[in-house]
Amino acid sequence: MRRKLVAGNWKMNGLKADLPEVAKIAEAAVAHGQVNAALCVPFTLIAAAAEAAGAMPVGAQDVHQAASGAHTGCISAAMLVESGAKLVIVGHSERRADQYESDGQVRLKALAGKGAGLQVILCIGETLDERDAGRAEQVVTDQVAGSLPEGASGDWLALAYEPVWAIGTGRTPTEADVAAMHGAIRTKLRELIGAEAEKVRILYGGSVNGANAGSLLACADVDGALVGGASLTAEKFVPIIEAAASLS
Ligand code: PGA
Repeated sequence: MRRKLVAGNWKMNGLKADLPEVAKIAEAAVAHGQVNAALCVPFTLIAAAAEAAGAMPVGAQDVHQAASGAHTGCISAAMLVESGAKLVIVGHSERRADQYESDGQVRLKALAGKGAGLQVILCIGETLDERDAGRAEQVVTDQVAGSLPEGASGDWLALAYEPVWAIGTGRTPTEADVAAMHGAIRTKLRELIGAEAEKVRILYGGSVNGANAGSLLACADVDGALVGGASLTAEKFVPIIEAAASLS
């Protein structure tokens, strides 16, 4: 039985004034210990958010693949750990698009996170053009094959299926489409890592909110959610944690 994971992705949002929201979210996370909840905040907020969050893990939204060196403006996995991060998102579609991150680079970032002892959430997902062309499953399973790190294990890795066209748009795939895609991802994982595939959590992300979380999280092979906009306040995020808890 895979424990559900509900992770918030604050993207480029969050200042110290928002720490009371972190504390309120953490309170709900602790009250619903049958699920894992976490918040991935901007680098600059990790240390303060980790302190405000107490037992709830706080994470980052990117990491550089190298341990150290001449990489102006970048952050290493050891730096994340030192600032209090317990997890890191890699390969988010916004980074794949805006920072031109490739599958190969995402794979190395995942390994860097693992090497420092971080939990890793690795994102994959198709664009609307790819879905309309009937290529969604092929694109996504190719991303899995191309970015899955060596030694991938449910002990430290989760995948997040996030259709690009569902992110921040209020649109979501049908439950049947979500279940079909998560099933295809699980099948690809079995091909790549055998029995370990059963332990790797596959999160859904893209316009998850308090109203749709229950039905999305109940889909076959959906082991949690990666939540952007609706993770920014306790008022919006706590109902998603509660929806996951009620299914667990
Ligand atoms: P959204 O973002 O919930 O605002 O659609 C999800 C994500 O990009 O992780």
